[in-house]
Amino acid sequence: MTPLVELRNIVKTFGGVHAVDDVSLSLAEGEVLGLLGHNGAGKSTLIKVLAGVFPADSGTILIQGQPVSIRSTRDAKTLGIETIYQTLALSENLDSVANLFLGREMTGPLGFMNEEAMEEQARKTLGRLKLHLPSLSSLVQSLSGGQRQAVAIARAIHFNARVLIMDEPTAALGPEETLKVAALVAELSRQGIGIILISHDIHDIFDLASRLAVMKNGRLVGAVSTADVTQDEVLAMIIAGKMPERPNS
Ligand SMILES: Nc1ncnc2c1ncn2[C@@H]1O[C@H](COP(=O)(O)OP(=O)(O)OP(=O)(O)O)[C@@H](O)[C@H]1O
Ligand SMILES: [Mg+2]
Repeated sequence: MTPLVELRNIVKTFGGVHAVDDVSLSLAEGEVLGLLGHNGAGKSTLIKVLAGVFPADSGTILIQGQPVSIRSTRDAKTLGIETIYQTLALSENLDSVANLFLGREMTGPLGFMNEEAMEEQARKTLGRLKLHLPSLSSLVQSLSGGQRQAVAIARAIHFNARVLIMDEPTAALGPEETLKVAALVAELSRQGIGIILISHDIHDIFDLASRLAVMKNGRLVGAVSTADVTQDEVLAMIIAGKMPERPNS
């Protein structure tokens, strides 16, 4: 099957630093891929190339087998690639609906914001995610960490995302909220969205991801199916940059 996303031989340097050094990686429809590695391994840089934050020095990106040019975050969004950064970038003093549409508001023929239509659309998207917020009109500042993450996810997928990149999605959450985000990720995966979860902590994403890719010093150590490895083996990949001894597919 043609991968949803294929990164081929991506290189990105900053001055003399090889932040990403000849990395090739693919993501299938509905796949939850964990991207692991120590601080400075190159995870964010690789993902920022895909998200259009900056172009690669060299390499190719294919979406469903077609080479694409991603020169800006707008290009990435047009291709259905959405990113949720650690900060979530929500507006605290606006409600969930307003946050969902921030910068992409629906307007009527006279240019006024169509509040009713936006609320109805927001309900649909939250329903699609099987999400229940106490009230759509609560200000984001009154929501819990998990609810905020949910609003950020709803905003990302509302505009037909096919690829969702999440940077440390559960790092700041308690166990209960983490479970809710896990359920959301599973639901998105069922709907065919390809998901990349970035973390420097294996424990955060081992249960969520079906495949794990490990980076070290800008290079890809390898990618393994979560079902085929132990957490210790993945730790060895992260720390020593070594693939597990026994064969993996
Ligand atoms: N904008 C930049 N300018 C200069 N160097 C950068 C820039 N962004 C990243 N780097 C360097 O590239 C390397 C990879 O950084 P990157 O942020 O991709 O790592 P990371 O795996 O995301 O780490 P972390 O887990 O800390 O987020 C590091 O050596 C970093 O200092
Ligand atoms: Mg990073």
